[in-house]
Amino acid sequence: MSELPISKGERTPWIKFRRCLWYVAALIMVGTLVIYSSVFQESWSLNPRTSTPNSSTSHDSVPPLVDEYTVAYPHEYHFILDELNRCREESPFLVLMIPVAPHNREARHMIRSTWGNVTMVQGKVVSHYFILGQSREENGAETIEEQLLRESRDHRDILQSDFLDSYHNLTIKTMLMFEWLSTHCPQTSYAMKVDSDTFLNVHNLVGMLLKAPQHLYMTGIVVRFAPVLRDQNSKWFLPFSTFPESVYPTYAIGLGYVFSLDLTRKILEAAQHVRALYIEDVYVGLCMKHLGIPLTDPPRNDMFMIWKPSDTGNCYWTSVITTLLHSSNQLLDVWKSYQIQAQSGC
Ligand SMILES: *[C@@H]1O[C@H](CO)[C@@H](O)[C@H](O)[C@H]1NC(C)=O
Ligand SMILES: *[C@@H]1O[C@H](CO)[C@@H](O)[C@H](O)[C@H]1NC(C)=O
Ligand SMILES: *[C@@H]1O[C@H](CO)[C@@H](O)[C@H](O)[C@H]1NC(C)=O
Repeated sequence: MSELPISKGERTPWIKFRRCLWYVAALIMVGTLVIYSSVFQESWSLNPRTSTPNSSTSHDSVPPLVDEYTVAYPHEYHFILDELNRCREESPFLVLMIPVAPHNREARHMIRSTWGNVTMVQGKVVSHYFILGQSREENGAETIEEQLLRESRDHRDILQSDFLDSYHNLTIKTMLMFEWLSTHCPQTSYAMKVDSDTFLNVHNLVGMLLKAPQHLYMTGIVVRFAPVLRDQNSKWFLPFSTFPESVYPTYAIGLGYVFSLDLTRKILEAAQHVRALYIEDVYVGLCMKHLGIPLTDPPRNDMFMIWKPSDTGNCYWTSVITTLLHSSNQLLDVWKSYQIQAQSGC
């Protein structure tokens, strides 16, 4: 069929039809692009081999991979016990954030009477908050919630949100910590996520931070190329279907990592795109990888310690920043040793 000379403005039915076809084709192309980009932006673990085996759940949109190794985040949780203005008013240089189970009053008590009671170092204000979810248990006549309310009034250091507090939900707790810091502490330079069963030398921590980078900074025990645990009996088991890579991203071990406050917003942005795994420190590492921000090793590799050496004489406690203890019950004794070492000119 030869081209008919058509004057401008004239539309034959055939041209109209072609135009219509063109629109349909364009629409299909755009639609495909939109679907593809949403699939690939979501994260690596949405490829077909890792999607949920239950096909009844797959409709037009890609369903989130929900299994026992992921957690419900992002999601809008609410704080039941909060400190709305305290951080803004005190403008601490450093905030210590301590995840703790609701019933673990003992650990909170130990921390308040040891490193949690250090509130000023080299003229810099330091404060601490405990971060909790909700408990399932009831404790005798007085519920845990009532105890917590009283504890919160007495100490003003309790942040409790409305998710179920459990080991598998620690990532939710960590992400709520970032949310809380980013909205409540506008003048704060650094924060540390620190477990309740650790010794913390706040003086050395502040000393290190006064010389540290001020932006996009995270440090602690930085682990690189750690193999993913595929043994089902491991506490940190991850199946291939949830996490297909063979090594974890570079991450800082959860017992104690430090970061500049500008990272909180960045990590929360990344969390919109990276599926939340139950292993909280690895998940933060995944967010950092997504952001392309490298972690920083501490100035010395004997500052953040996982194991307490058998010999803690020789100024051990005055030279470290953190050491993991067997339980927070050890904290009072260790704190005494630390004070003795500090007073003996270590
Ligand atoms: C999909 O999962 C639901 C709930 O987990 C179950 O009731 C249903 O039988 C499953 N369907 C298929 C096709 O496996
Ligand atoms: C905290 O330290 C102050 C001294 O700086 C002391 O008076 C107070 O008793 C301490 N509080 C606890 C709970 O140990
Ligand atoms: C985690 O928290 C969510 C929200 O409260 C809850 O629905 C879920 O059951 C919790 N998961 C575990 C394993 O505790």
